Amino acid sequence: MARQIAFGKLRAMCNAGAKLRAEIGRRGATKDVGETIMAWQWAAAVVLMIAGINGVAAEDYPARTVTMIVPFAAGGPADFTGRIVADIFTRHLGQKFVVENAVGAGGTVGTLRAARAAPDGYTILSGHMGTNALASAFYPNLGYDPQKDFEAIGLSAEFPEMLVVRKDFPANNLEEFIAYARSNESKLNVGHAGLGSVSYIGCLLLNAAIGIKPTMVPFTGTAPVMNAMLAGEIDYECDPVLGTLAHVRAGNLKALAIAAKKRNPMLPDVPTSYEQGLPEFDCAPFYGVFAPGGTPKPIVEKLVEALNKGLNEESVQKRLADLGAELVEADRRGPKALADLVRSETARLMPILKAAAGK
Ligand code: MLT
Repeated sequence: MARQIAFGKLRAMCNAGAKLRAEIGRRGATKDVGETIMAWQWAAAVVLMIAGINGVAAEDYPARTVTMIVPFAAGGPADFTGRIVADIFTRHLGQKFVVENAVGAGGTVGTLRAARAAPDGYTILSGHMGTNALASAFYPNLGYDPQKDFEAIGLSAEFPEMLVVRKDFPANNLEEFIAYARSNESKLNVGHAGLGSVSYIGCLLLNAAIGIKPTMVPFTGTAPVMNAMLAGEIDYECDPVLGTLAHVRAGNLKALAIAAKKRNPMLPDVPTSYEQGLPEFDCAPFYGVFAPGGTPKPIVEKLVEALNKGLNEESVQKRLADLGAELVEADRRGPKALADLVRSETARLMPILKAAAGK
C-alpha cells in the first residue's frame, strides 16, 4: 500500500515536471532552463523514491528475523539481559529477534559490528556502560564513536556489581580481602570479560582503591570467568549481581561486597562497599538497546515503544528484579534518557578510570 502511494506520488511529480517543461517551451524559454528543470525534477524524484522505499521499510518493519548482537559470551549478565529484551521485541513486534553472541576485546568487536551494520533495524545491539560509553578510555582506535554511531533505543536495566571470591579464598569480608590482597597481590588472578568490559572496570576501581596490581586475566565474558573460578583458577571477579547470584546462593563462591550505596534485595546479607569503608568501589552498569546510527526514525520509534511496553510488564519486572536488577522508572528509560546517561556516565567516569588505569 505505502509502496503504491510512493510510486503514485512519483508519477504525479514526473507528470507535473513534464507539464512545466511544455509550458516553458510554449512561452519560448531557453533550452538550458528546460534542462535544469528536468535535472531538478529527476533529483526530486530520486529523493522521493528513496523516502518512499524507507517509508515502506519502516511501515512493514520488522518483516523478517532481526539479529540482536550481544557482545559477550552466552550465560553472563549481558546475555541474560539481551535475551530478556529480545523476547520483549519478539512478543511485541511479531518477528523473531535472535541473539547472536559476537564476542571479543571487551565487547568492542560485536559493538563495532553493530555500529557498521546497515541502519535498517535488522541488526541491533544490547550493549552496556562499557561498550557504549567507557570503552574509548581503553582503546585509542575503537573504530566507533559510542555517542555518534548509535541511536539510543532505551535502557533495559541497571545491576550493581559485586566482589566475589573463590570458595576457599582466605577472606570472609572486605577488610580481610584487602589485607590478604595487599600482601599477596603478585599471586592473585582476577577474571574479567576483556579490557573495557564492566567486570574489568569494576575490578579496576577496586584494585586502584586498595593499591594493588594483580594479574588481570581476560575472557570473552564473565560466564567463562565463573567456570574458571569454580575450577579454582581465578581468585576473584567483580560482576553484576545477576552473573553470580546463583553460585553465591549455592555456596560455590563467596560474595564480599556490593559495589553500591544500598544492599541488594536478592542478597540482603552481603554488605555494601560503603558500609565497609570503601566507597571508591562503586559500580552499577547500565544495560541498554542501541541501533546503528541513521536507522530511520519510524523504526527507532517502533523499537522504543515495544521495549517500553515490555519493561512495563509485571512478569518482566519480576524477572529482572529476581536477577538483582535495579528497576528503572519509565521516565529514565527512553532514548533521550539513555543518550543522556551515556553522555553523563562518560563525563563522570572517564577521568576516574583514566586515573585508576594510571593513564
Ligand atoms: C558478561 O556479560 O559476560 C559480562 O558481564 C560483561 C562485562 O563484564 O562487561
